[in-house]
Amino acid sequence: MLVIVKENYDEMSKEAAKIVASRLRRKPNLVLGLATGSTPVGLYKELIRMHKEEGLDFSKVVTFNLDEYIGLPPQHDQSYRYFMDVNLFNHINIEKRYIHVPNGMADDIEAHCEWYEEQIKKFGGIDLQILGIGANGHIAFNEPGSSLGSRTRIKTLTQQTIKDNARFFKSIEEVPKYAITMGIGTIMEAKEIILLASGKNKADAVKAAVEGPITAMCPASIIQMHRKAFVIVDKEAASKLSQEFTG
Ligand code: PGA
Repeated sequence: MLVIVKENYDEMSKEAAKIVASRLRRKPNLVLGLATGSTPVGLYKELIRMHKEEGLDFSKVVTFNLDEYIGLPPQHDQSYRYFMDVNLFNHINIEKRYIHVPNGMADDIEAHCEWYEEQIKKFGGIDLQILGIGANGHIAFNEPGSSLGSRTRIKTLTQQTIKDNARFFKSIEEVPKYAITMGIGTIMEAKEIILLASGKNKADAVKAAVEGPITAMCPASIIQMHRKAFVIVDKEAASKLSQEFTG
C-alpha cells in the first residue's frame, strides 16, 4: 500500500489522474473500475481536461461502476448511471457499449449480479479500480459488517445512508432502499486500486483503513491486503495518521 498525501483536493485529484493516464497510455483497452460520489469528481474533471487538451484516448476503454440504486432508471438524475454520464462519459470518447453500470431496473437482480461478475471476467478483470471511502469506512455500498469475501449483490441501505441521501430527493420516501454493489471480494480482484479521500470528516475512516486492524467493521481496511493499492488523500483526510507520509 502506498499512501500519498497531497496538499489539497485538487492536488489529490491530479495525482490520481496521472496514474490513470499512465495506465491508459500503456494499455489503451484498460478495464477501469469507477466510483460515484463527490470525491472522484475532480479526478474525472482532470481526465476530461487531458482528453480535450492532450488527446487522452478512451476509445478502447472498458468501464465497470461499483454500484447503482435499485429502482432508478438510468435517466433519473440521482441514478449513478446519470452521474457518470454527466461527470465523465458525456465528455470523453468512450464507446457506450463498453460502459457497465449495474442495472437497477433489472427484472431478475440476482441473475443480473451474476451477469455483471461474468462481464468483468470476460474483459479480463478490472485493471484499475477507483474507490471512495465513507466516513464509516464503507466502500461502494459495502457497509460495516459486510463480508470481506462478498461478490456483486443486493444490499439494503442503512437508515443512516437513507437519511444522508434524502437531501437529493423530494422526500425521504423516494430514496431507494436497496442497491446493487460490487462485493469486497470483487473489488479486491482488481489488479490495482486507488482509494481517494478528502476532508476532515474522512480522517477517522482513513486512519482506520490504513493503520487499523483489518476488519469487516471497516470494509476499507481490506485494502491492506491488496498487492498494489494507492491511498491518495489530502492533508485533512490524512490528519489522523500516526505515520508521516508525503506526496
Ligand atoms: P463521497 O462518498 O465521495 O461523496 O464522500 C464516498 C463514499 O461514500 O464512498
